[in-house]
This record gives sequence, C-alpha cells and structure tokens, in this order.
Amino acid sequence: MPDYTTGYGQDGPQLGAGYNRPGDRPAMTRTVLKGINQQISAELSASYAYLAMSAWCESQNFTGSAKWLRIQSREEHTHAMKLFDFVLARGGTVELMAIEKPARTFKSIVEVFEAALKQEQEVGRQIDQLYELAFKEKVFAAMAELQWFITEQVEEEKSAREIVAKFRMLKDDPASLLDLDRELGARQPEAGAAA
Ligand code: FEO
Repeated sequence: MPDYTTGYGQDGPQLGAGYNRPGDRPAMTRTVLKGINQQISAELSASYAYLAMSAWCESQNFTGSAKWLRIQSREEHTHAMKLFDFVLARGGTVELMAIEKPARTFKSIVEVFEAALKQEQEVGRQIDQLYELAFKEKVFAAMAELQWFITEQVEEEKSAREIVAKFRMLKDDPASLLDLDRELGARQPEAGAAA
C-alpha cells in the first residue's frame, strides 16, 4: 500500500501541493501518476508509428491507406492529450518521455496493418494494467478516465483486425488491393479531430 500522506521522494513526476493530506481519500498516487505519464508517451509513440506507416503507404501509392493511417495518427495524439489534460486537471506533473524511432519500411501493405494491430493489442494491454493499478490504489477518477480508453481500445483493435483480415484475403490481386485502399481512404476524422 503506498503512503498517501507524505514522502513521495524526489524521483519521477510529483503530485501537486495539497494532495493526499492525512484522512483524505487519494486523489492520485505517485504510481498511478507515473503509469499515466507512461501511457501519454505510449499514445504519442503510437501516433508517431502511424505517421511513419502513413508515409510508407503514400510512397507506395496506397494513398487511401496513407490517409487512414494519418487520421489514426491524429487520433492517437488526441488520446495522449486526453491523459495529458487529465494529469494537469488533477494537479499532477506531466513528464514526457523519449519516443523510439518507428519502423520506416515494410515488406507489404498487409505488414503495415499487421504492425498496426500488434501495436493496438500492446496499447490495450497497457491500458488494462493501468486500470488495474488505479483500481488497486483506489484512484477512482483515474479509473473513470481510463474506462473511456478501454472502450476505445475494443473498437481500435477490431478495426485493425478487420483490415488485416481483408488484406490477407486479397493477397496480391492489384485491382482488389486498390479497391480496399480506396475504401480505407473514405475514412473521415472524428468530430473535433483535424486530419
Ligand atoms: Fe490510443 Fe490506438 O490506442
């Protein structure tokens, strides 16, 4: 059980002044704050990776897929900002971390979406772990915030899985690949998120 009252030490992001006085229910704990900060970077890292995928697709003339991935990159950025704003609203410190260089080349269009699916599954696992942590530490506001992400992950994993299945079905038939690419290009950004 963390010490909610004093002594968070000097390492890592700090809670705001006035937090968790003796007798208060925990508004945020240092471990949850650290986890949310890690998740902000994970979402930004996903955004970055999608942008690299989009660039590769564009270079291979899969312009519909490139558009789909660019919109997805923006969505991931929105996810990061949602957590960013949540940390600030709770008086915590945002600590951004280093982002790894994403893959730049792919063997095929199906490999791009396989990588996207893998990434979504990994983000899904991270969100689940973070939710579990918030539950264990009784940080209810964080649980409520993360609930949105759990629902969103179900949708995102489903979309990526469906696209992978479609590309696998088509194999290398150029006309069908172009049709699917066109279909992906019809994606519109969600309200409030610019493409
Ligand atoms: Fe923000 Fe696709 O997870």
